[in-house]
Amino acid sequence: MRTPLLAANWKMNMARQDANTLVKDLMAAVGNVRDRDVAICPPFHLLADVEKLVEGHENVYLGAQDLHWKDSGAFTGEVSAPMLKDVGCRMVIIGHSERRAMFGETDETCAKKLAAAMQHGLVPILCVGESLEQHEAGKTVDIVKAQLRADLEGLTLDDGNKLVIAYEPIWAIGTGKADTAENANNTMIALRKVLAEIFGEEIAQQVRLLYGGSVKPANIAGFMACSDIDGALVGGASLKAESFSQIVNY
Ligand code: 13P
Repeated sequence: MRTPLLAANWKMNMARQDANTLVKDLMAAVGNVRDRDVAICPPFHLLADVEKLVEGHENVYLGAQDLHWKDSGAFTGEVSAPMLKDVGCRMVIIGHSERRAMFGETDETCAKKLAAAMQHGLVPILCVGESLEQHEAGKTVDIVKAQLRADLEGLTLDDGNKLVIAYEPIWAIGTGKADTAENANNTMIALRKVLAEIFGEEIAQQVRLLYGGSVKPANIAGFMACSDIDGALVGGASLKAESFSQIVNY
């Protein structure tokens, strides 16, 4: 009942020419998918270019990698939800662990960003995940549940399709060491329980939960076979049309 979502997080990569080639190749390979959704989240400077290339591909969503919670004002270097809408975004990543670790993102700022995104009709992809130390101490589920509760503080949700959660263990990001599908699915089940406590069972069942962290063509099928994993948030392997289209066609 949940439509699979395969999302590309390009992070701080790609120049215009390469992006152009990549998205054209991707659209040729997977642009007309119907039974799943694809999201492409380029850096801000490429949003307008990519929007032109994905226009008309109904199941392909343009997304940004961050936003500010205010609509406009004296916030040098920031980009707002209305600006992202203006350039054609339908989704936005919030609270990626790289932003939490390096750019002062907190659960409080995530909560404000979530509210702003939703107010403007952008679907947030909210990221949560534990560190290697927390993972090795067996604290994964406690940590991500607490993160999710804090980030969703004060949020109301009338439709689970308006929210996406990405579980990305920090130790699996860019390391080539993905979580096992079984572990990731158990964490997802715990996250969905939190969603049910907050929003009720029906809405919790609609929210798509993505796994992220060293997703590759070789391991995507294992994740997608799990009961509570509804897609993937892909970094490195989303930068090549061949590998990302194989992931989309898992
Ligand atoms: P990798 O797929 O490169 O491990 O990155 C995952 C990620 O951080 C996606 O947001």
